[in-house]
Amino acid sequence: MDIFEQEMSKPTIFQDRNVLSPHYIPDHLPYRENEITKMQKLLAPALSNKRPSNLFIYGKTGTGKTCCTKHTLERMMEVKEKYNAQVDSVYINCRMNNSRYQVLLKIAQHAWPNESFMGHPANYLREKILKYAGKGVILVIALDEVDKVKDLDELMYTLTRSNDDLDKGHIALIGISNDATFKDKLDPRSKSTLWGEEMVYPPYNAEQLQAILEERCLEGFKKGSVGDGTIAIASAYSAKESGDARYALRLMLKAGEMADEENRTVAERDVMAARNAVEEDIVLELINTLPDHQSLVLYAIATQEGTGRNTRLSGDGVSYLFSGEVYVGYEGVCRKWGMPARSARWFREYLNELEMMGLIITHISGKGIRGNTRLIKLAFPADKVRNAVEKRFA
Ligand SMILES: Nc1ncnc2c1ncn2[C@@H]1O[C@H](COP(=O)(O)OP(=O)(O)OP(=O)(O)O)[C@@H](O)[C@H]1O
Ligand SMILES: [Mg+2]
Repeated sequence: MDIFEQEMSKPTIFQDRNVLSPHYIPDHLPYRENEITKMQKLLAPALSNKRPSNLFIYGKTGTGKTCCTKHTLERMMEVKEKYNAQVDSVYINCRMNNSRYQVLLKIAQHAWPNESFMGHPANYLREKILKYAGKGVILVIALDEVDKVKDLDELMYTLTRSNDDLDKGHIALIGISNDATFKDKLDPRSKSTLWGEEMVYPPYNAEQLQAILEERCLEGFKKGSVGDGTIAIASAYSAKESGDARYALRLMLKAGEMADEENRTVAERDVMAARNAVEEDIVLELINTLPDHQSLVLYAIATQEGTGRNTRLSGDGVSYLFSGEVYVGYEGVCRKWGMPARSARWFREYLNELEMMGLIITHISGKGIRGNTRLIKLAFPADKVRNAVEKRFA
């Protein structure tokens, strides 16, 4: 047997690893029956060609907003097929499609899959979307992570105003976000008219996470592969952290992979060991999705940290970097990778954003150390951060 054959015949504790992936949408979503029912009630009129009101869903990360919405839209489309109703739906992730243009493009492509929209202006896309809905279709558009759209006011204005130009058909919006404050950033004009209904998804508690994990593990792992108490530990820890089902699933999957390497039952100690690995993965993913300049600033911090040269001690005995020196380092990094450096004002803004995401810790120095300069420290191991950024630019 060669290595390839051995790989295929390796014993495994997984039955269907895919079920444990965060992208998998289970048929049954425990503890979200009420939310799904409410969404169904809201959308049901669309099936008999009546206008549903817009819906806005928010809740912390991993509370099931995406999977419940996808699940509900899929179900609506099944019924539409069966009864040939004049309704359609399109799901758009706005993190990947973060401008009005890209969102309109996605909708237009969905409506007219055989046409090419390359190089057409936004107005043309809007016309095409109107033409599609104007055939009498109730078009439900789910905008997931809608707060990520850069020109959201313009997008909202374009979409909601489109209904004024429709005699038949209608465009209904479902907005989803884990940032409850994002609506405050909207223009009052769009804010007041936009969302008819609102729903908040609460975080899951330990007991709920346990039930969710148990269902997934039953399908994901072979019978008897998960040790007693393992799921309870993973749920308790995830509930304490954030009540995030995605995190809980990642923890179980990672623990499973660790046990699988040695072809044994998943044990509590695997969950404990998986915690660090999962947290590291999450940070690396976060870095991968940072805009260019934020990651360049982060890289400058990571390269300076630990060199000793730029590191000073602040009052609490921990080493920090001076923001002025980090800025110089950032300019150097930009030169190295051929990108024009942004001004110091932008740089300060990037620091604020990195701190908000928990990637760095900053302090304003007290009197004595160069007036009121900002002191900076990385929240994660510098080599990991450097590797992640280098993969992107080098
Ligand atoms: N009630 C549930 N039953 C089973 N699995 C669930 C449930 N809620 C969430 N999950 C699972 O947890 C993971 C995260 O859920 P989802 O992606 O829907 O979260 P979200 O609220 O959209 O988070 P974010 O704000 O980060 O996008 C998915 O893998 C999903 O399958
Ligand atoms: Mg989501």
